[in-house]
Amino acid sequence: MKLLDLRKQAKSRFRALGIDEVDADFIIAETLNLPHTSLIMIDEISTLDAKKIEKNLKKREQRIPVNRIFNHACFYGLDFKINKNVLAPRQDSEILVDECLKLIKAKGLKSALDVCTGSGCLAVALAKNAGISVCASDISQRALSLATVNAESNAVKINFIKSNMFSKIDGKFDLILSNPPYICSHEIASLDDEVKFQDPLLALDGGEDGLKFYKIIAKHAPKHLNKNGYVCLEIGATQREQVLRLFKDYDFVDCVKDYAGKDRVMIFKLRSEK
Ligand SMILES: C[S@@+](CC[C@H](N)C(=O)[O-])C[C@H]1O[C@@H](n2cnc3c(N)ncnc32)[C@H](O)[C@@H]1O
Repeated sequence: MKLLDLRKQAKSRFRALGIDEVDADFIIAETLNLPHTSLIMIDEISTLDAKKIEKNLKKREQRIPVNRIFNHACFYGLDFKINKNVLAPRQDSEILVDECLKLIKAKGLKSALDVCTGSGCLAVALAKNAGISVCASDISQRALSLATVNAESNAVKINFIKSNMFSKIDGKFDLILSNPPYICSHEIASLDDEVKFQDPLLALDGGEDGLKFYKIIAKHAPKHLNKNGYVCLEIGATQREQVLRLFKDYDFVDCVKDYAGKDRVMIFKLRSEK
């Protein structure tokens, strides 16, 4: 079969279903295990390859996101394995890494704790780019097992700890970062199918008001922060004022917007005693 014909058909099928056409080429290249840029150089593909591609195109038509079809995701220029036990890394969360890296550089921070690490994407991206000591925790052993694989495949050393928030965390850090679950329990049913059926509930459910984990972090982070330490958090687009109130005993540093112009990352500094 001519690859060009297959690409055209796939794009038009996706267009008709309101699925991003870019996904068609992505699926074809991933299935053929080729760099996306080399598709234009291929004329014919085998019947077997065409069948494999069709199977994956069908999955996308059933609203399975591309990174779930291939069980890996690109985050901060690094490759991460994902599975049903972890949230698929989101591009917007790269802003949290950017802000942490800026703080680390500007303030000379030496250690970080990533609470609610999931696939380990934030911790691994930090360790890879900042060269500081990084600890990461999650309540899910399955998530931690995958995060360990991701740290190894990206050649970074991270101390992973199974912990219900801070319950098993010892020691102090210069920076605590987190992208905790922050969706209100009652809003989960109305989420897009691509989120609701693909990401684990444990990674989404932020309790009745979506603020459960921010409350825990605001309360317990001071015990685990060095003097002049920072907290850097991903938040839901409408949570800025609520999170600001929860962190009233900290110094507010900044609220950074995402690529869509929505509030996404909040930074606080441990208030020094006068
Ligand atoms: C929104 S996901 C974030 C994953 C990853 N940091 C990211 O940015 O892609 C939240 C994570 O919090 C973890 N989690 C949920 N409840 C927790 C708890 N009580 N203590 C620690 N981690 C928890 C989930 O297992 C999940 O991996």
